[in-house]
Amino acid sequence: MANEVYHPDPSMKPTPYIKSMKEYEKMYKRSIESPEEFWEDIAKQFYWETPFTNKFCSYNFDVTKGPISIKWMEGATTNICYNLLDKNVRNGMGEKIAFYWEGNDPEDYSRLTYKKLLIQVCKFANVLKSKGVNKGDRVAIYMPMILETVIVMLACTRIGAVHSVVFAGFSSDSLAERLLDAKSKVLVTSDGVWRGEKLLCLKEICDAAMERSKKFGHEVESCIVVKHLPRLNASQSRDGEGKENDEKSPEKRKAFDYQVPWDEDRDAWWDDEMEDASSSCYPVWVGAEDPLFLLYTSGSTGKPKGVLHTTAGYLLYAATTFKYVFDYHPGDVYWCTADVGWITGHTYVVYGPLANGATSVLFEGVPFHPHNGRYWEVIQKFKVNQFYTAPTAIRSLMKFGDVPVKKFDLSSLKVLGSVGEPINSEAWLWYYNVIGSGKCSIVDTFWQTETGGHVTFPFFGVLPVLLDENGKEIQGPGEGYLVFRRPWPGIMRTIFGNHERFETTYFKKFPGFYTSGDGARRDEEGYLWITGRMDDMLNVSGHLLSTAEVEGALAEHGAVVEVAVVARPHPVKGECLHCFITTKDGVKFTPKLSDELRRRVREKIGPFAAPECIQYAPSLPKTRSGKIVRRVLKKIAQNDRNLGDISTLADESIIEILFANLPVQD
Ligand code: WT7
Repeated sequence: MANEVYHPDPSMKPTPYIKSMKEYEKMYKRSIESPEEFWEDIAKQFYWETPFTNKFCSYNFDVTKGPISIKWMEGATTNICYNLLDKNVRNGMGEKIAFYWEGNDPEDYSRLTYKKLLIQVCKFANVLKSKGVNKGDRVAIYMPMILETVIVMLACTRIGAVHSVVFAGFSSDSLAERLLDAKSKVLVTSDGVWRGEKLLCLKEICDAAMERSKKFGHEVESCIVVKHLPRLNASQSRDGEGKENDEKSPEKRKAFDYQVPWDEDRDAWWDDEMEDASSSCYPVWVGAEDPLFLLYTSGSTGKPKGVLHTTAGYLLYAATTFKYVFDYHPGDVYWCTADVGWITGHTYVVYGPLANGATSVLFEGVPFHPHNGRYWEVIQKFKVNQFYTAPTAIRSLMKFGDVPVKKFDLSSLKVLGSVGEPINSEAWLWYYNVIGSGKCSIVDTFWQTETGGHVTFPFFGVLPVLLDENGKEIQGPGEGYLVFRRPWPGIMRTIFGNHERFETTYFKKFPGFYTSGDGARRDEEGYLWITGRMDDMLNVSGHLLSTAEVEGALAEHGAVVEVAVVARPHPVKGECLHCFITTKDGVKFTPKLSDELRRRVREKIGPFAAPECIQYAPSLPKTRSGKIVRRVLKKIAQNDRNLGDISTLADESIIEILFANLPVQD
């Protein structure tokens, strides 16, 4: 398949923004040769309260020459919320739909126009002010995919506060760690959410997290709670006239019994706060390089990093990548399935679409509820033109064959997007042929939390380079480390509170370059294929995790003396976790212990991190100096006997034992 070439179907896009490869090349060339002019032209679409002073872009990308620093449009002031909402409303788009909201339950849906969104945002900005939130303060968000989540994010930007969204699938410990690191003043959440058939009691998780954060020295001052769970009445939750029904699902019973925990001094209901809030709120003009948001991403030391994005550059980059990569035209309906808790949700559910005055779908549910054709049903319902999802979702839906797809009319689709992990050829072809009927273009968008927006097929202003282990540039076809030579507007500026870690993680390995941590291969035509992470990170269903993070959670268990975690390929998730565990002397490795360990990872990190396989290891393969040789463990986990050089191992005999004990794999 790697040799087959698929061209865009001209009948699908009568008037694309970029009409040919030639035109792309021309624009790309200009973005590299005159980046300041290129982005200055784009900046003209937006409102600046004061213009930039000095240079449009100044930076140092070379650690050997001083601290790393990246600045775009320094001196300019603006407000992102103003550019996303007020500007569009003023341009006559007030009645245009910003979001179609589709709930977990197909009966549950609504819509919000630009004008109504602006009113809600202003009201909530006033609520935040009443809670003492000022410019620069951090506001944590732990919420489902509901309209209020977007409202909170934009309300923060309106007053110059910095949002820190934490994916509501993270455990209370993970949330606590993020509250503490960001010193978030306010936390916004909902009572709970139904995800498919499962109930998540979010406020309970928030309470545990706030308590833990307080114990470690940071107290969240206010917690605002959206009442989102349907108010179950007796006839809905129990059988008929309030009669007990033992056949009700345990989750329904849990919902009925759920008492939202409450602290009168700290907690407030969203509706109560919004009721009297004024709907006018003048935007706070902030500097181009003032912080916009923090978003935590896994780090190879185990401690997550608060990636910091700033205002002007991020706006330019989110808006421009959205417009060109998805070829979004006025009147189109766009849908990105990513949760707002990840960077994809930030850039391509909230900022990119709104900056273009787009209409999007905001989907709360899961692809399998109430049936396996839910995604396709939603595309039909809203006549979606651009659909953006992850390979892991495609693979898990492919399993059900074409029948659930064929029940729905997908003829509105024009562009399909893929993000989060490398897409394999089977998944690509199914996406192309079955979902796109062989007519839609597929855009495979490689990027990272850190890059702020898409960076391949080299986007404008992005200069990718392949380096070998010694930092020598690989010209032409070949494989190596994927690095970037200079900043584009959307790139992160620092790690919150830890600029040194920022420099070490991304700029020390190859001075003069931003190192992505991924590898890539350049083919004969110059096209870049991402080969996956080259560091200790792994990617489970598009969620980035570090081996150290998972090892840390497992090592805390009293029965464990030593642990090593590696990634191995998984047919649906892309990669999954394989953990090798050495128990303390005299402690037996039992199925019960294995379950406990798995649960521990779910509780410390979140359910998406639950290991696929936990294997007993009487000892681990190590070098003579005692370093665990993960390379060998990785091969063992894949049942691959091509171990390479094992002469440095202190004791080779353990290898056969581990192969012999390999659990049966699916
Ligand atoms: C890592 C970043 C920004 C997307 C959501 C994940 C991998 C991302 C692709 C792609 C191959 C991809 C990389 C990257 N990745 N997109 N299209 N093809 N790999 O954001 O959590 O910051 O993870 O995801 O390994 O480094 P993230």
